[in-house]
Amino acid sequence: MKADKRAKLRFDSKVAYIPPDEASKSINPPIFMSSSFEYDADIYQRVVDGERKSVNIYGRCGNPSEYLFEEQMCVIEGANACLGTASGMAAISITLLGLLKAGDHVVCDWTTYSSTHEMLDHRYTDYDIETTFVDTANPDSVRAALKPNTRVIYFESVANPTMKVAAIEPLVDIAREHGAILVCDNTFASPYVLRPLEWGVDIVVESATKFIGGHSDAIGGAICMKTDRLPEDFLEQIRWNTMVKLGSPLAPFNAWLLLRGIQTLAVRLQRQCQSAAILAGHLETHPKVNKVWYPGLASHPQHDIAKSQMPEFGGMLTFEVDTADDALKVLDNFELCSFAASLGGVRTTTQIPASMAFLDVPEEQRREMNIADGMIRISTGLEDPEDLIADIDAALALI
Ligand SMILES: Cc1ncc(COP(=O)(O)O)c(C=O)c1O
Repeated sequence: MKADKRAKLRFDSKVAYIPPDEASKSINPPIFMSSSFEYDADIYQRVVDGERKSVNIYGRCGNPSEYLFEEQMCVIEGANACLGTASGMAAISITLLGLLKAGDHVVCDWTTYSSTHEMLDHRYTDYDIETTFVDTANPDSVRAALKPNTRVIYFESVANPTMKVAAIEPLVDIAREHGAILVCDNTFASPYVLRPLEWGVDIVVESATKFIGGHSDAIGGAICMKTDRLPEDFLEQIRWNTMVKLGSPLAPFNAWLLLRGIQTLAVRLQRQCQSAAILAGHLETHPKVNKVWYPGLASHPQHDIAKSQMPEFGGMLTFEVDTADDALKVLDNFELCSFAASLGGVRTTTQIPASMAFLDVPEEQRREMNIADGMIRISTGLEDPEDLIADIDAALALI
């Protein structure tokens, strides 16, 4: 299929279709398990001349399985370019390191994935990159935080774990007015629910480990770009000047697993969104539950924004019980739901953000992020929602 026709397919067809391999006609993508690639005089000359794009040199610089993943991600996200990376955190770090230099300033939402927050709050300060943390759902607070040296505005389309949803259009306007680059982590939403590049975001970072791969068996990340405010070859530049130097390429087997997962992204997410909405509705009426955070609930503080940006509300939700001990008791007594790190797989996974993913974030900051000790995060899998409800109710009955 020609590229322009492929680009016009509906989303479900885009994810299911991967062009057959030209050499073998295999309908599944080939895998290239090689750390090294043979030179000939022509390749040698191209490398020497600096024409390295898509030239296979050494596995740390890229590999053909990764390029197939990048091509598929471009189609899915509506991107002009994609860089596959070893993990979601590699995608985030490479993007920020590629965009920032000493003396730059970042405006970032208060609630982002803990490692992102930690990097901006501590590590980058060591290199004279300062961050102001704000509530990006409030455009005025973003405006107020801008400085002449603000280079990046960073947010999560659905924030981990508070499920906050910022309105994207005002952030795009602010970034453009100010000449800053708008970066969005779309991991919690997934490209099925939201494609931020279509809304004018400059760069999207994804932990492909989660919904994109979808089977809890591969770690990987993607940086996707569509913008006229960075050089067209920006991702190729940061491949060579940052990713290769950090040593964080997407491994071939992981690229292959992620490509396998992508093909079912639409049907998985369709079910996960439906089940998460059912769980959220059920938990909202449960006497042991203090609060439920799901963008599809009318009680969600940004429900109207979510409705205007997302046709469905994703597979993630959080709810609160009284204490950390209660949360632990609930999770420890699940039988069908897994008490496990990570999210986005076919199995329902649950965790206590305050004492798991956000353990390294000081308590006071966790409070500012609205992460209560008794908060429980659910990544809804593909099980029957009635069985999930029975499992959750049985565990909640013990507190
Ligand atoms: C929102 C978000 N972004 C990024 C990451 C990092 O992804 P990875 O574990 O693939 O490095 C995570 C991991 O949980 C996440 O939840």
